[in-house]
Parts: sequence; C-alpha cells; structure tokens
Amino acid sequence: MTVSFSMFQIYRLVWLSFMTSMCLSACIHDSVLQETPVVSSNIISSRVPRLFPRSTSSDYFQPLRVTPWYLLGENAFISQGQIRQLKIALQEVTQMLSSTLSVHRSEGSLLLNRDISRFCRSVWRAPNDNKCAYMQTSYQGEKCLDVTIPDFHLQGVKVWSDLEKEPRTVIEDGAGVPDTDFLLYVQVAQTQKCAAQPSVIAYASYCQQDPTGRPLAGVIVFCTDHLREEEYNQRHIIQVALHELLHTLGFSSSLYASWLDCSLAEYGEACSSRTRVTNTDENGQFRIYTPTVMQKMGEHLGVEGVGAPLENKGFPNLASSHWESRFFQGSIMTALLSPPHLTHLDPITLAAFTDMGWYKVNATIKSQLMWGKGAGRYFGLPTTCQDSSTGFFCTGSKLGCHHLHLDKGNCSTDSYLEGCHIYSPLIHGGECWRHQNSGDPDEIFHAQSRCFYSNLTKGASPNQEFRGRCYLHQCLGENHFQVKVHESEWTDCPAGAWIQMLSPIPYERRPGLIICYCGKMVHRLPPYP
Ligand SMILES: *[C@@H]1O[C@H](CO)[C@@H](O)[C@H](O)[C@H]1NC(C)=O
Ligand SMILES: *[C@@H]1O[C@H](CO)[C@@H](O)[C@H](O)[C@H]1NC(C)=O
Ligand SMILES: *[C@@H]1O[C@H](CO)[C@@H](O)[C@H](O)[C@H]1NC(C)=O
Repeated sequence: MTVSFSMFQIYRLVWLSFMTSMCLSACIHDSVLQETPVVSSNIISSRVPRLFPRSTSSDYFQPLRVTPWYLLGENAFISQGQIRQLKIALQEVTQMLSSTLSVHRSEGSLLLNRDISRFCRSVWRAPNDNKCAYMQTSYQGEKCLDVTIPDFHLQGVKVWSDLEKEPRTVIEDGAGVPDTDFLLYVQVAQTQKCAAQPSVIAYASYCQQDPTGRPLAGVIVFCTDHLREEEYNQRHIIQVALHELLHTLGFSSSLYASWLDCSLAEYGEACSSRTRVTNTDENGQFRIYTPTVMQKMGEHLGVEGVGAPLENKGFPNLASSHWESRFFQGSIMTALLSPPHLTHLDPITLAAFTDMGWYKVNATIKSQLMWGKGAGRYFGLPTTCQDSSTGFFCTGSKLGCHHLHLDKGNCSTDSYLEGCHIYSPLIHGGECWRHQNSGDPDEIFHAQSRCFYSNLTKGASPNQEFRGRCYLHQCLGENHFQVKVHESEWTDCPAGAWIQMLSPIPYERRPGLIICYCGKMVHRLPPYP
C-alpha cells in the first residue's frame, strides 16, 4: 500500500506599514510555510504519458479560464458593496490571466480528486494501488486549505472489496465545474492566520494538480479586516490577487520539481520533466536556469548565460518563490511589492510561465522591467550596489527619484536589499503624476509630470542641492521629450543630458539645472486613476 504526500504551501501578503495608498505590501509565504498533506492521486513520472490526441498549435492552447468560487461565510463582516468590489477585482485579474496564459483544456467539466489516503482505510497493493478496498467510515470529504470542497466538485468513490468483482459506488461523481481550467475558492474570513499577523491581507495555496503537474485548484483567503471600507484599496486587492494567483498557477518553490520541458514535444505529445529548474550561482544564491528565463534575463541585463536570481532572504539553502529584490524592483513577483502603479508583470516572470511547460504565454502581452535594464553582469550584487553610477542604486539618504520617475524617492533600504539602497517612493506627497499641493512652488504635480533631478529653485536660496522635483514633461518620440517648469517654454531634454533652465518668475532669475533621465523614463504610461 503506498500513498504519497506532497507539501502544500501558503502564500501570504502583508502590509508592511499601515500607511495609506503608498504602502508596500510583502508576501512572506515562504517564511510561513505550512505543511499540509494533499492528494497526489496521479503519480507524475519522469516521462509524462501522452494524454491528449495530437493536434495543431492553434487549437491546442486555449485561454486559461480561472473560475472564482465564492465561499463567503456569515463571518464576513463586510458590506455587499465591498463584496461586489472584490468580485470586480477578481474578474479583472482572471481576465488578465486569460489573455496572458493559454492551456490545453481538458474535456468536460472540471472534477477534483479525492484524497485516497483520507477516504480509504486500505488500498490494494500495486499494480492496483489506486483501488480502495475499504472505505474510511470517518471520511468527512475534502478540504483545500481551510475550505471544504463542495461534493459536487469532486469525483465519486468506488470500493473494490473484491478485485474480481465490479466495484461498489459509495459516492457518485459530482457534476463538476464547467468551462474551468483552474478553480479558485475565494474566502473572506478573519482566520487564525489573519489574526496571528494583523498585517496579512491575503494568502493562497494550490491544492490539486492534474496528471501533468499543472495546478487545478486553489484557495485565496482575504482577511476580513483588510476588506473593510476604510481599508479597502481596489488597486492593492488586484495586485495582491494577481501575485497570489501567479504563485498558485506555478510560480512556487514547491512546484519547481513539476515544471516540464516541452521543447522536444510536438503539441499533444509527452513532455519530459525538467531535471533542474534552480541551482546556486557562484555566490551561493539560487537562480532559475531554465532556457526562456535565461534568455530573457540575458536580454534584460545585456549579457549571456545568467539565470534569474531568487530571493535569498531567509532562504540561505533553499530556492524561494520570489524574485530577488535587488534585481527585480517593480516586478509583480518580488516578496516585497511596490505600490501598484510602480509594479508590473515583467518579461522574466512570463518566461518562467513559458518554462513551466503547462502554459503558452501570449507574446503580445505588455510586460516591463526597467530596473537593471542593460546594467550588465555585475548588476544587483551586494558587492556592486554601492556604485550608484548606473543610476539604479543610490547611497546616503538623499531625496531623488524612484527609478520609474513617476514618484520622488527617498534613498533607503529594506531587509530584502542586503544593504543596497534604492530610491523608494515617498510615503506622502511624492507622486508627481497626482495633482496635489506641494510645499515647493516650483514644482508641478500633474498627470503629465515626472520626477527629475534638479537644483532649480527660487532665487532666494542659491546653491540648492540636487534632488528629485516634479515637472511637466511631454514625449515626442522614443528617447525624445521636453520638460516645462512654471512660466517656461517647453524645452528639449536630451537623454542623459543636463539642461539649464531659468528659475521661474516671479522669483529672481537664477540658472538651475535639470538632469534628463530619458533613458530610464517610462513614457506613455496609462493615466493612473
Ligand atoms: C493577447 O493579448 C492581446 C492584448 O495584448 C489580446 O488582444 C489578445 O486577445 C490576447 N490573445 C489571447 C489568445 O488571449
Ligand atoms: C526618508 O527616509 C528616512 C528613513 O527611511 C526618513 O527618516 C525620512 O523622513 C524620509 N524622508 C522623506 C521626505 O520621506
Ligand atoms: C545648480 O547647480 C549648478 C551647477 O553646480 C550651479 O551653477 C547653479 O548655480 C545651481 N543653481 C542653484 C539655483 O542652486
């Protein structure tokens, strides 16, 4: 009798601070792993059997259908309006995933497996070891994390008290969930995990895999306290849900061993398992070394043969489920997330989804990673980040610009950066693109404003230090833009150059300089609500 178990993980996102819209949120799931046995009814061999009829590429992959299944108990002390908002947020996320990832769809409704080690008291030996001989009388059904899976989502139970005879059906197959590739149970509850760590806003886990290893179902739990009207922030909920879903769909340390190599397989043919997804680099840090990830990482840094580093904080000897913060500022898959308007789906995360073997990634989907672009082989190391000349890292505690130039930034560090300093967005008043009153009459806060380094200021105080300031800008083409300060004309700002502007009227005219950081400016960003 053999029954094997695999671990299943919990992803948690926490607010690091309780500030308003500018707080950073952190996913600490890797440090709060909870080990829970889950069914592994289909043993995944090194050679995954041919499962599907041969077909052509165009019909083989179809957009991923993530179906949210709401289990909103009475303990959800939030208004119907908040629930509606949550559903809208999840709809946006599932639509985003559907246009980004395609899968091979199974026929019929999705029916989840039951855990034979729970419903069955004894199992026939190999080769009949998935046949139950005696039902467990105390069997209470299946759970996914804390959620009880409805019976009609589950396969039935048959018992073979005699292998020679027909089995007895103890529980009929459920009807299943139609039009679904991934079933997401959504719970709103102030669970023990929420209570234990009040900064946790959501956590998630997958709990079922198909015979190829692709996750089929999971749970996301939103902590009630964070959905209350005073706390609620739609952009944050969308960001958290997307981050968590990307974990449950495959970007998880517990799933690296299941990733498939389909490079030699025709559509519908067997893929082989990847011998090794992660390995340590020369500094002992784990990286993902799969082909597409390496290619995209190489294109990004402008070098060849580099893997994509995984967060090592708290994981000296293990591969974690997040990208290394020093390399991936602004990516959706770092452990500490930047505010939503500074966070993007990045090409290397998409490459990881390609390399899982279960998905086809939409090549036209927008993704971006500006941090470290073209910065070379030695970028991002604790030993090189004290060199601020690349324009990414900073030293001291100056007031500059966040690297996307939408916000002013404070040169600071956090526990994931291992002593490296970056311009992190100011918690208050640093959003150049948001109309607001600032203390500085020279600056312009406007949807078309960006952060520039300048010492331009009113004449009364000469020898101003250079710091981040907000001015209007307009884009005239790639790497070609103009800036405008109060009372000035639109002035060309060539990439990487310094331009001299006169201090604005009505102040005494004194020349000041603006540094044109066109190379790292991000243009044509959608207006942020
Ligand atoms: C791929 O993404 C584009 C938008 O970037 C979208 O219009 C298109 O429908 C997507 N394709 C699929 C198959 O979802
Ligand atoms: C910059 O960060 C430091 C420490 O992180 C903090 O003391 C300071 O108030 C911040 N400055 C601004 C303008 O936010
Ligand atoms: C800005 O810096 C330049 C170069 O150091 C200097 O010539 C100019 O006087 C400074 N302007 C102000 C207003 O401090």
